[in-house]
Amino acid sequence: MSIQRYIAANSPRFLDELVDLLKIPSVSADPAYKEEVVKAAEFVKEKLIASGVDHAEICATAGFPIVYGEKIIDPAAPTILIYGHYDVQPADPLELWDSPPFEPVIRNTDLHPEGAIFARGSADDKGQFYMHVKAFEAMIAEDLLQCNVKFMIEGEEEVGSENLDLFVQKNQEKLKADVVLISDTSMISLEHPSVTVGLRGLAYLQVEVTGPNKDLHSGTFGGSVANPINVLCKMIASLHDENHHITIPGFYDQVQEYDSEYRKQLNQAPFNEEDFKRKLDVKETYGEKGYSTIERVGIRPTLDVNGIWGGYIGQGAKTVLPSKAHAKISMRLVPDQEHKEIARLFEQHFKRIAPPAVKVKVVPHHGGPAAVIPTDSIGYRAAEAAIQEAFGKKAIPTREGGSIPITALFQKVLGLDPILLGFGLDTDAIHSPNEHYGVANYLKGIETIALFFKHFNQLSKEK
Ligand code: BES
Ligand code: MN
Ligand code: MN
Repeated sequence: MSIQRYIAANSPRFLDELVDLLKIPSVSADPAYKEEVVKAAEFVKEKLIASGVDHAEICATAGFPIVYGEKIIDPAAPTILIYGHYDVQPADPLELWDSPPFEPVIRNTDLHPEGAIFARGSADDKGQFYMHVKAFEAMIAEDLLQCNVKFMIEGEEEVGSENLDLFVQKNQEKLKADVVLISDTSMISLEHPSVTVGLRGLAYLQVEVTGPNKDLHSGTFGGSVANPINVLCKMIASLHDENHHITIPGFYDQVQEYDSEYRKQLNQAPFNEEDFKRKLDVKETYGEKGYSTIERVGIRPTLDVNGIWGGYIGQGAKTVLPSKAHAKISMRLVPDQEHKEIARLFEQHFKRIAPPAVKVKVVPHHGGPAAVIPTDSIGYRAAEAAIQEAFGKKAIPTREGGSIPITALFQKVLGLDPILLGFGLDTDAIHSPNEHYGVANYLKGIETIALFFKHFNQLSKEK
């Protein structure tokens, strides 16, 4: 048999196993799901063993565990380290899901005539990392595995991978590999397969603006003391100028600018602005002056409010002048912005622009650097060759706007450039209601991953 035939013969079971994994609500952000997250780790370990690793273990951390498994076929053979995450984002708002987030169903859609599996985590990242487990199983079953494999599947990606850093630092020998392979990104489409060569970094923080020391009657006191929500809105509005440039002094100091040649190349990726607008139901795109949509997402930094609250938001009208206003703010970063420095610049500026009538508190959350992946490595060439063989097309290198902060950690600590071979689509609704993952993407991904192994082994020998 071949890999393709093995996948075809076993695809119903490959889907069933993914469905079982998706039924576990492993929401890392919400303490109510603590036991479920641990259950997902155990599930992953069991499946690694069933799929053929020599040895698998659940490695405790200060937070959620990391599942590690390996199969060493020959110490002289190349080693591929697979990274993924079994934790998922919270599912709310629940009322906007067409089917319950942890009761996976396969439905056909216009984009997915062969079906898509709807569930929280289906594309981010359970459906994607599980492709590696099944590609591994297929290679063993077909006696085609010629590389050593190490799996490292974590449970805290969606909350900032805080304990992974230490784990990687401490386990450098155990994690020793020739390449890191990650499927936690998107491709342009099944017609236009792509490999991600850049991710943005992130600085995330929360702000609190306090006016009077308690909520007040908005008639008795309105007009005489600062309303912290009014003030916060004004402060936030001032963080962009009329060209949608960010106004924080020093914010752009470390930003890498690209020459027109690179920008031209980036803009050659297939992208239809009209399509983009139609899918999102917006009349116009919106962003930094002087850059295309591809550039705004791929190579430019941003500042966005992710949530804002305060005062009365219940039924009807309550006349109140609130004591406090809050917002969660994220900044997507590009090379070479440093997230702690950017958070510091934000805090300094935000406190400076606050009127004396309010107090401001800024609490930094997680963050991480951007990453750029070189395209001249054996790993990248193996990805290109695998895509060529699986899709009959040349892979398009893309820079994506999302963040996987550990990508840069692998580069720094392990000295390895991760290959971001993702099979999701931007329309998969990750982090959003009705998240789904195409069945065709899942099965094609399994095939492409197996081909990556083949080409990585071949190219390593030619070196
Ligand atoms: N898989 C995503 C990152 C991603 C999504 C990369 C789409 C490229 C395309 C990852 O799980 C994620 O959501 N990351 C967070 C950052 C993290 C520190 C919480 C993000 O990008 O918001
Ligand atoms: Mn992810
Ligand atoms: Mn995510």
